Amino acid sequence: MRSLRNKVVVVTGAGRGIGAAITRHFFDEGARVVLAARNKKRLQETAASLGADEKDYLIVTADVTVRKQMKKIVLSAMKKFGQIDIFVNNAGVGIHKPLVKTTEKEFDVIFNTNLKAIYYSFLELVPLFKKQAGGQIINISSGAGRIGVPGLAAYSSSKAALNAFSEAVAGEVRNDNIKISVLAPASTDTNLMSNLSKKSKTPSKAAVKLTVDEVAEAVIFLARQNTNAWTSTADIRPLHIKK
Ligand SMILES: NC(=O)c1ccc[n+]([C@@H]2O[C@H](COP(=O)([O-])OP(=O)(O)OC[C@H]3O[C@@H](n4cnc5c(N)ncnc54)[C@H](OP(=O)(O)O)[C@@H]3O)[C@@H](O)[C@H]2O)c1
Repeated sequence: MRSLRNKVVVVTGAGRGIGAAITRHFFDEGARVVLAARNKKRLQETAASLGADEKDYLIVTADVTVRKQMKKIVLSAMKKFGQIDIFVNNAGVGIHKPLVKTTEKEFDVIFNTNLKAIYYSFLELVPLFKKQAGGQIINISSGAGRIGVPGLAAYSSSKAALNAFSEAVAGEVRNDNIKISVLAPASTDTNLMSNLSKKSKTPSKAAVKLTVDEVAEAVIFLARQNTNAWTSTADIRPLHIKK
C-alpha cells in the first residue's frame, strides 16, 4: 500500500463530524492537510486537535456552493503546498422532512452542497490533476443514496446523483492517472441532520451507528491503495445492527 507521508490532502467540511476525523487520520499518516469549511472557529478547533506545526496545515474558510470559493480552496492549497494529491469532498447537508414540507430553498441547498459543489471541485481538479499527471478525489456519499429513504427525498436523490456523477467522470479520467472514488457510509454518529434545520430530527432508527473514526479509516484505505488499484465505490456499514 502506498504511504501518505507528505501527501497534500484537502478535506472539505473539516470543522466537525466525519470531516474532522478524516483530517486527523490523514495527519496521523504523515500528510499535510488543508481544512476547508465556512466556520473558521471550528476549523481552528480541528487544527488544534492535530497538535500540528503551521507549516503542515492550512485553514481555508470557504462556502463550497460558491464556485469562486471552491476555486479559492484549490488555489490556496496550491499556493501553500505546490500540489494537491488527494481531495476529499466531504462537506454535505441533509434534512429529514416529508417532501411536501421541504422548502424549495432547502431542496436547493441540499443539491448545491451535495452535488453542485462537487461539480465545481471537479472543474478545478481535473485540469490540475492532468497537469500534475495524477491525483485522487474521494467523494463522501451515503447509504441513503443507494435507495430512496422516506423523509430524505432531497438528500437521498442528491447522493444518488453524486454516485452517478462520480462514476461517469471517473471513466473519463481514469487513463489520466486520476482516481475518483465514492465512499457511502451508513448512519454515523454526528449532528448531520440537525444542522440544516433546528426542527429536523435525526432520521436514523439504527441502534448501532458507525463512529467518525471508522468512516475515516475507510477513507484512508481508499487513499493508501496502490496506484493501479481503484476502488470506485465502497459501502461502509456497522457489522451488527442490534446493540
Ligand atoms: N452522519 C451520517 O450519518 C452520514 C452518513 C452517510 C454519509 N454522510 C455524509 O458525510 C459527510 C459529512 O457529514 P457529517 O455527518 O460529518 O456532517 P456534519 O457533522 O453536519 O458536518 C458537515 C460539515 O460540512 C461543512 N459544510 C456544510 N455546508 C458547507 C458549505 N456550503 N461549504 C463548506 N462547508 C460546508 C460543515 O461546516 P460549516 O458549517 O462550518 O461550513 C461541516 O464541517 C456528508 O457529506 C454527509 O452527507 C453522513
